[in-house]
Amino acid sequence: MIAAGSDALSADIFAGQPGDADLLAAIYDLEHDAVHEDIGFYRRLVRRARGRLLDLGCGSGRLFRPFLEGGATSVRGIDGSAALIRRAELRIAADQALAEAAAAGRLSVALGDVRRPPKGKWRWIMAVGVLPHMDGPEAALHMLGAAAARLGPDGRLVLDDIGPGGMPGRDLPLSLDWERDLDGRSVVRRSQMTRRETPDGLRVDYVTMTDAVRPDGTIARLPARFRLWYPSQSVLESLLDEAGLAIELTYGSHDLEPLDAESDRRVVIAMRRR
Ligand SMILES: C[S@@+](CC[C@H](N)C(=O)[O-])C[C@H]1O[C@@H](n2cnc3c(N)ncnc32)[C@H](O)[C@@H]1O
Repeated sequence: MIAAGSDALSADIFAGQPGDADLLAAIYDLEHDAVHEDIGFYRRLVRRARGRLLDLGCGSGRLFRPFLEGGATSVRGIDGSAALIRRAELRIAADQALAEAAAAGRLSVALGDVRRPPKGKWRWIMAVGVLPHMDGPEAALHMLGAAAARLGPDGRLVLDDIGPGGMPGRDLPLSLDWERDLDGRSVVRRSQMTRRETPDGLRVDYVTMTDAVRPDGTIARLPARFRLWYPSQSVLESLLDEAGLAIELTYGSHDLEPLDAESDRRVVIAMRRR
């Protein structure tokens, strides 16, 4: 049963953050675009079966290329952040292969909530780094149930998140994460993390403080806060079951290692229960 009230969660991760959403999105990308280790995995995974692919919580479209190169017949990305969708559109315009796919009607992006995926049936529904944003079992079930209803007969839902070995074991005090260059301006990111074990998994309060030097030498300070939830394996399995989904495969890394307590990732491939 999906209880009422799950709409309380905003689909826009930058909503209510005091900083400029476009700058926050650019800084978010600076970090996410540096992730490449899953690119080959997604290219190979999609190669297993050609078909329409829905990228839930696509961000700025980091994975569009491997999905298309893997042979997805079309890719539709949705994300709750208007700033990240604008960046996805810029990425498509700047990349010849993506621009050609978009012109041929094989690639499109739209603002949307992962709990209300677009109509139609999909061979692949990808949710990479999205589940922890669901804020708990109620919203997660909403997302999983909606995805299950949109899977085609041979469709697969892929959930890909941090695994048990990548979870913070203790609170992390405010510390320097990185210092990088963003279009010629220096950006410094600090963060602090507090964690709480709950019966349904790990809840993490992640506070970032980003300082970006403006062209005139003054500093824009962008505080942001993200509440994340990492369901335990047993809670995830029962949510999938309640959503009418069965687990086909589980991996603990993008190198297809088995999932165990040390795994950095938890990749779950699920299908509709027959
Ligand atoms: C960690 S990022 C992952 C982005 C992308 N999948 C990737 O792997 O590069 C999580 C994404 O989920 C989006 N998101 C979180 N909750 C959402 C919701 N309820 N509806 C739509 N998008 C959501 C965020 O805006 C963000 O772009």
